[in-house]
Amino acid sequence: MILTDSLLDFFIETRKQSETICKPLEIEDYVVQPIVDVSPPKWHLGHTTWFFEEFILKPHAEGYKIFHEDFSFVFNSYYETVGERVVRANRGNLSRPSVEKVYEYRNYVTENIKKLFSDGQSKELNDLLEIGIHHEKQHQELLLTDIKYILGNNPLLPKYSDTFEDHPSETHEQEWISMDEGIYEIGHDSEGFYYDNELGRHKVYLQPYQISNKLVTNKEFLKFLDDGGYQRFDLWHAEGWDWVNQNKIACPLYWHLIDDEWHHYTAKGLQRIPMEAPVTHISYYEAFAYAQWKGLRLPTEFEWEAAQQFFPWGKRWEWTESAYLPYPGYQKADGALGEYNGKFMVNQKVLRGGSVATPEKHTRHSYRNFFHPHLRWQFTGLRLVK
Ligand code: AVJ
Ligand code: FE
Repeated sequence: MILTDSLLDFFIETRKQSETICKPLEIEDYVVQPIVDVSPPKWHLGHTTWFFEEFILKPHAEGYKIFHEDFSFVFNSYYETVGERVVRANRGNLSRPSVEKVYEYRNYVTENIKKLFSDGQSKELNDLLEIGIHHEKQHQELLLTDIKYILGNNPLLPKYSDTFEDHPSETHEQEWISMDEGIYEIGHDSEGFYYDNELGRHKVYLQPYQISNKLVTNKEFLKFLDDGGYQRFDLWHAEGWDWVNQNKIACPLYWHLIDDEWHHYTAKGLQRIPMEAPVTHISYYEAFAYAQWKGLRLPTEFEWEAAQQFFPWGKRWEWTESAYLPYPGYQKADGALGEYNGKFMVNQKVLRGGSVATPEKHTRHSYRNFFHPHLRWQFTGLRLVK
């Protein structure tokens, strides 16, 4: 038995935070799914709860009675090991369970976890609880970005909050950080929590490079736009150019030109674009095209990690040039949790850093986020290298 007071506090605080994020919502906001990538807030609240029920309570809490036998079908995201589930695109068609029922489910599972861990638990169970907590934190970031998408694609453009600042300006001078050629160690290297995709730690050889200490700003990105960047095929990958044309893309997500003045939808509603804030809501294709236009490039994830202590980061997820691939010696966990990260290591790009939506105590310098290159509803941005 290992005492788990602080872990249990971390759990309770995390469970509360998901509900705090949803406080500004109307009941109707909890249910819709405007695009397949965006899940209804109600679903996030249920899914994070199901994770604790499925992987901790069901197998490890003696005499535990599951809350509802159909909830695994409704709230399983992608675990083939666990069984059948609602097709992802249909998450927004679930008028039941009601929001109220989902909150009851949350309380029931939270109380049962508290009971199970109150006198301490084995290392195995503590590790599971820690994964469950960080899993819920990942979903808190998705909750915020999904809520932004739901509200920001409503013609009434309702605001989410008066206080959540999702476009903080950066005031430091842009400089180039020179990095020496040589061997660098990459991967998880500290005491705290990590995901399996951050192992194993390994050496890479980097050529000399210079990396910017500052993210590309809205002001800079606007120059690309004004210079016809979205109309110049020569700046884009073929796949990116098809994406631009098929979707008639001509600016970052949430940008609106109103009376010749650029505005964007923010958590605080529609606002003038702050020129000194880092550009965000761009796809990898846009990040790449911008770098081409500047005659520069994006860092690899290794270049980013080797230099990260020399610049501020954490407001935007930074697209890297790296494909999301296993590190040398990567081992998937046994069972369902082996499906958590490893099976997505194809056709996605790595993003490094964190964002204004990332919960506290969640990201770190070895953290590898990953998304398909066309996606841009997360708080994505870019940093240049030469
Ligand atoms: C790491 C953000 C790509 O969105 O599927 C949530 C996070 N993993 N539940 C995702 C995640 C399992 C993951 N990303
Ligand atoms: Fe999940």
